[in-house]
This record gives sequence, C-alpha cells and structure tokens, in this order.
Amino acid sequence: LTIYRKDYTAPSYLVDTVELGFDLDPARTIVANRMTMRRNPASGQREIELYGEEIDLVALRVNGKTLGKRDYRIDGNLLRIPNAPEDVVLEIETICAPEKNTALSGLYVSNGNFITQCEAEGFRRITYFPDRPDVMAKYTVMLRAEKQRYPVLLSNGNLVEEGELPGGRHYAKWEDPFPKPSYLFALVASNLVCQEEKFKLADGRTALLQVWVEEGNLDKTDYAMQSLKRSIRWDEERFGLELDLDRFMIVATGDFNMGAMENKGLNIFNTKYVLANPRVATDLDFQGIEAVVGHEYFHNWTGNRVTCRDWFQLSLKEGLTVFRDQEFSGDMVGTDSGRAVNRIDQVRTLRQVQFPEDAGPMAHPVRPDSFVEINNFYTVTVYEKGAEVVRMYQTLLGREGFRKGMDLYFERHDGQAVECDDFRRAMADANGRDLAQFERWYSQAGTPRVRAAMRYDAAAKTVELTLSQSCPPTPGQPDKLPFHIPVAVGLVGRDGRDIPLVIDGEPRGNTAVLELTAAEQSWRFTNVPELPVPSLLRDFSAPVVLEYDYRDEDLLHLFSHDSDPVNRWEAGQRLAMERLLKLTADVTAGSRMQLDDTFVDAMRKVLTDDALDPAFREQALLLPTENMIAEQTEVVHPLSIHMARQFVRATIGTRLRKELMAAIDANQTPGEYSPDAEAIGKRALKNLALSYLAAATDDNEAIDLAGQQFEQADNMTDKAAALGALIHARAQSAAGALQDFYDEFQGEALVVDKWFALQASAPSTDVGAVRALMQHPAFNIRNPNRARSLVATFCMANHVQFHVPDGSGYQFWAEQVIALDALNPQVASRLARAMDRWRRYAPVLQAHMKKALQQVNGQKKLSNDVREVISKALAN
Ligand code: ARG
Ligand code: ZN
Repeated sequence: LTIYRKDYTAPSYLVDTVELGFDLDPARTIVANRMTMRRNPASGQREIELYGEEIDLVALRVNGKTLGKRDYRIDGNLLRIPNAPEDVVLEIETICAPEKNTALSGLYVSNGNFITQCEAEGFRRITYFPDRPDVMAKYTVMLRAEKQRYPVLLSNGNLVEEGELPGGRHYAKWEDPFPKPSYLFALVASNLVCQEEKFKLADGRTALLQVWVEEGNLDKTDYAMQSLKRSIRWDEERFGLELDLDRFMIVATGDFNMGAMENKGLNIFNTKYVLANPRVATDLDFQGIEAVVGHEYFHNWTGNRVTCRDWFQLSLKEGLTVFRDQEFSGDMVGTDSGRAVNRIDQVRTLRQVQFPEDAGPMAHPVRPDSFVEINNFYTVTVYEKGAEVVRMYQTLLGREGFRKGMDLYFERHDGQAVECDDFRRAMADANGRDLAQFERWYSQAGTPRVRAAMRYDAAAKTVELTLSQSCPPTPGQPDKLPFHIPVAVGLVGRDGRDIPLVIDGEPRGNTAVLELTAAEQSWRFTNVPELPVPSLLRDFSAPVVLEYDYRDEDLLHLFSHDSDPVNRWEAGQRLAMERLLKLTADVTAGSRMQLDDTFVDAMRKVLTDDALDPAFREQALLLPTENMIAEQTEVVHPLSIHMARQFVRATIGTRLRKELMAAIDANQTPGEYSPDAEAIGKRALKNLALSYLAAATDDNEAIDLAGQQFEQADNMTDKAAALGALIHARAQSAAGALQDFYDEFQGEALVVDKWFALQASAPSTDVGAVRALMQHPAFNIRNPNRARSLVATFCMANHVQFHVPDGSGYQFWAEQVIALDALNPQVASRLARAMDRWRRYAPVLQAHMKKALQQVNGQKKLSNDVREVISKALAN
C-alpha cells in the first residue's frame, strides 16, 4: 500500500496529555494509556483514529464508559471510534511481549534490559495512539518493574517521584514538560550504570548529564561525555540554542537498528556510537561518536522543538541536523585544512553512496512524494543530500544570513510540526530573497549534471564561462526543470595563484558563487591577464556532477596549486579516475596494465609535500573506491575494477616504496593516544602507506612491518589497520594474527564486529568462508551490528567474492534477506539494497542477480520493507 504526500489530511483529534503506566515484564507487559483529546477544529472528521500493531487490546474506555465491540472498528493497524464527543478522555489497556520483539521497534529487550525505539512508527507497538508526528502531547510516564533486575527506570523529561512497591517491585514517575510527537517517546528499564556530571549552561542553569552503559563499559564513556558537553556549548555559541531540560541522558544498547535516536532528554544509542577507549576504538569510531552525539543533541531543537508535519518532511529535521553535526565536527577540528578534510569525507560519502542511490531504482527526492514503508526512507538522500541542500542556503546567503534564517525559523515554528517549505520560507524571508526555484531541490530526484565550458579572449583579456545543467530521469520523474545551483568558482593563474575575479565590473574576490538557475548561463570575467585554469564547484558548493574537459596538465596544475583544498583533492581524484577507468577496460579486454609516470610523480609529490597536513595527504592519495569506479562504467565488471584498483595500489607501493617507508617513519604518534585531528591525520597517512606497501605483492619487508605494527600497537586504530593490511595483502599469513586478535578481544562486542567485518571484506573470503563464519559461536544474526558486520559487509563491500560469476554470492544474499526479514525487517531491507544497481552489471551477473531478486520477491511472507525495495529493483 503506497502512501502519498498529496493525501495529507489534518488529524481528526488532538491529544493534550498522555499518562502512561507500564507494568514491565519481558513476556507480558501491561500498558495503561490515559489521554485527554479534543476534536481538531482544522479537521472535518469526527472519528478518532488510532494505530496499533502487535499489541493485544484489553480495554477501551471513552469518558469513563467501556466500549463494546460495536462501538469501534479495527481494520488492520487502524482502530476507529466513530461519533466521538468533542472532548474525550480515552483510556486504553494493552499487552505486549517485549522479549519476543526481534524487530527492535517499539518496546523490546536487549541483553536483559527494556529499551524502546519509536521513530518512525514504533509507538503503535506500545499502545494505540494517533501515531503521527503532527500530534504533539505532554507525557507523564509511570514505570513499574522488579527492582532487583531493573534498578534503573528512565523516561523523557524530569524524574518527579520514585519509590517501593510490594513484591520486590519499584516505580519511577517521569514528566516531560514539552509537548512532543509520539516518535520521541522513550523508556529504559535496566541495570545499567552511568558516568554523570553537572554542567553549567550559558544562562547560568545547571544540567545533569548522564551516559548509561553496562557495568563493564564504564571505562568507555568518557569520550561520549566530552562530546556531549562540546555539543551543548557549540549549539549555544553558533546558533544561540540552549538545552531546555535540567537533565540529559544518553543510553547505550548493543541491539539497535540504526545509529542513535533523539528521544526528548533520553537519547538512545547504538553502543557503536558511545563506547570508546584507545584499546578498542579506532580514530574513525571516535569521530563517529562525536558526530552522532552532536547529531542527536542538535535534534533537540531541529527535530524536537520544531518537528515534522508528516514523514515526507523527514529531511526537514534530518538534513538540517546532519548539516549541523557536520559544521560542529568542522568547528571542533578548528583549522581550515582540517575542515577541508572533513568536507572531502562528506563528498566521498555522497559520491560513494548517495549518487548511486539517486541513479538507481530507489531514487527519491529529498522530500519524497510517496512511500510504502517509511523506514526505507531513512536514506543517504534524505540525510546527506538533505544536508547538502541546507548547506546551499548557507552558501547562497552567507553564514550570517543563514543564522538569520534559523532564528526566524524558530521564532515562527517553535512547538510546531512543519514542512520543508516552512524552512525554505524562513530562509528566504529573513534575507529578503526569492528562493522559489530552490524548492526543486526538494521535489526533484536525481543528481544534476553541470557542464562547464570556458573561452579565453587573449586580446580582450576576458574569460567567458558557460554553465549548463541537466538532470537524468528517475523513477516517476522523466523530465526535470532547472535547479537553483550555487557554483563557486575561481580562476587559477599560471603561477598557481588565484586571479582576482571581476564580473560585470564588480570585484568578487578570489572565489565567486555563481547562481546557475537557467538551463544555460554565461558569465564574463574581465581583467584576466592570461589563460587560467578554472577551479569549479569549490568546496563542493552543490551536490552535482561537474563536467569540464580538463587536460592532464590542468589537473596537475590544480592538484599542486588550487587554493581551495577540496578542489585540489578533486583534481587528484580526476587524474586517478581517468586511469582507473582505462585500466579497468584494459583488464576486461585482456590487455596489459600500465601506469604512467606522470600520475606516479603527482602522487609522489603530494606524499612528500611536508607543507601539507598528513590528513590531507592521505585523502589525496586515497583512490576512488570500487563503487565510485563502478558508477562511472557503462557495464560493470567488478573483478576488472578490483584488479585495476589493486594494480594502481600495488604500483604506488612499489614505485614509491622509499617515500612510503619514510612517511611511515615520519608519521608515528608516540606517547599517549589522542584522537585529535593532527594525530588522526598522521595515523591515517601512515596506515595508508602501510597498506600500499603491503599491496606490492613481493614486498616481504612490508608484510613484516605490518606484522610488527599489529603486535606492538597500543591502540585499535593501528592494530586494526595492520591486521587489515595483512588480510588484504596476504590472507594466509594473517591467520595467526586473526586468531590472536579474537582471543584478545572476544569480550568486546564492538571489536568482535570489526573482526567479522575485516574478514568479510577481504577478497580472499569467499561465500563458503562467510557461511563458515556464520557458524562461529560469536555470530548472532539477531544482533544488527553483528549481522551487518558479517553479512552486509560481505554483500556490500566484498565486490570480488559477492559477484563471483556462478551467482553463489547472490544466492547467499537471497537466503539472508529472507532469513533476516522474518526477524528484523529493517535490517533485512538494508541488506536488500545490495542489489540496487543490478541492471548495470555484465549480462551473466545480471541474470543471476535477477534470479535472486525474483526468489526473494516470490516469498509469500515478506515485510513491507523488503517488498518495497525488491519490487522497485525489479521494476526499475
Ligand atoms: N532520528 C534518528 C537519527 O537520525 C534515526 C532513527 C531512525 N529509526 C528508524 N527506525 N528508521 O538520529
Ligand atoms: Zn537524525
């Protein structure tokens, strides 16, 4: 059943207050719900509409009167009470079984603790409710549970009362002073322990901050706490937004479908984004924690205080909050070059994951027009492309203009459930700008292409730059209208410096933001003394594919000189991509592979340029991923792509051996481990150097070096990098290290996930080996992190083995999607997306893929989640 954005109607009844009583029992939890409701003047409807799923209805009372079977109708998940009075006190009693809830949506049990996850539509698995984000109410929650097993009882807002009950039970009563949609409800009943701290807010108030974890993990909470404090400070300073509660809690759970959840005052996190210390967490983990802690905290304003009218508006809160967490991470690094490295990472994610999504069967606008299952739309398009859309406001309006827009947005909409359009209007009105055309970023799917052409008139000393745009068709959207695209450009002179820009007699600095709004537009730059190299789309000013016929010399020039670090990196990526595409074609054709000196020299130059931060050098040396290469080829031959990329890595490893060895020496980080940007950059460069050296097949010394690093490393970053280098280069010689690694870390679930993922992604791990790993005592398909670390990593990141020509990888995929779907549709549906781009593969592979898709599609019992993904893949 497809739901359409255009069919939105206002809720028939509004809810003012909700009182919830929980008698918590893993097998049989009783939920009593007492709501005060009133007819919504904005709706003509007189029926109360409630959703419920996987719960047993025990009793239903309207204004004290018990309803009989004829007083209401249940139709699937919808319960309707016709002819309800204007004002209603509705009382509902239901029963659920948290321990049987393997979908991890609603109320479930994780390692013996009660946990909830309600976004998007999990609250209806707890009680009957108008479970839609535009119904906002004040909640009071009474929790009752066995005291011994569940000493800690948490919910949203403030603790107002607690005490003992007969029979070894106890209770706690929580009150959330802010009206909220049901998807922000949360409770936790557990034996967790916390690190806590009082923190002074900007207005002088003090808030209690807590990070709750299992007892053995108290040595891994500090970074999350530090990140939380930095987030609170940052939102005060950058946006003038304060914490509005006296208490803010983070709870970590090992069983969680996504990264984390912004429940009001009670954020619930996947342990992956909370737990860290140098022994078990990598630099990437530390960075992930800072970003996600920030993200969920920032939701308190962008998501909770101002929420979404309906789920089509999801990017209103997600795109905006991702943008905010990106800016936060950038500001925490502090330096311009560190910020650029962050930006490069964002661009890589977009190209690697979002562009393919936007070109595939699941392509959808940032604000979708329809969906079958909303959980399928927590996507890189809604999140990351959505963040790019928000970033473009800032690029167009400036930082101050953006802030004005934010202020107006809160002034107008605090306490409301609104639409993406409301955000756009606030930005436009606060700045006196017409942003009508900008709306197309929300309504049109697909990645726009911007083509640039430059003409230099030597006599007149002018440059004419012509930009034209188009956007490929996407499912349901054959034709696109022009977007409003900010294109930041510079002109780089022969000496490598920026030529000051003058357009229409107006000086525009070294970088001008051109606003491309028509299908084609031209700009004339005057006072250009010589033929420049254009630096286009600086800082990746819009989520588009930029096409320009650069010559190699131009790219080499930009790669050495562009003042914009993102475009400097980009020039290197273009040089690499050209070669990778050519080499891939050579492998497929059976021709000999060869890498030119020009490229190797460019890599050498950047590797040895000590004026550049190690973090930037690492990014510049990183090749486009196999996914990115696949996106650029007409017919995808995964093995050819892999071999071409490996060849370039091995060639760099051989030809730059001396320089790579020197880089390893120069980028050691002795002393105490610290996840600061500088140290992270050094480790990244050193470990990339190590992996290139190890890729050079005959380099025993490199293998020894990796082995040594593996044994001596005092932090997980270096240890895991060394193990990765070993497995990828010479699997046979990694067996001992793998065993040692497991023995040492078997008690650390997140490290065991890494152990599975490292093996799952190695080209030496075939389907049979993955099946064998699934028999390992530590494997558990019910745990989402574990399932992802082995099964999803294999299907999404091990291109060589997943795409073996006999189709056995796809067969495995079909089996796992079906098995997982019976347990956890959200996790299954993510795995189902591994087949998104099946139509682009070589014919033999395509045939096998289609068969596997049809096999899943032929299942009688499939969740909406998986059904939607599979049927769209087969249809488009
Ligand atoms: N709002 C959460 C976040 O972005 C994501 C929760 C998504 N949950 C889901 N079941 N789809 O931080
Ligand atoms: Zn979010």
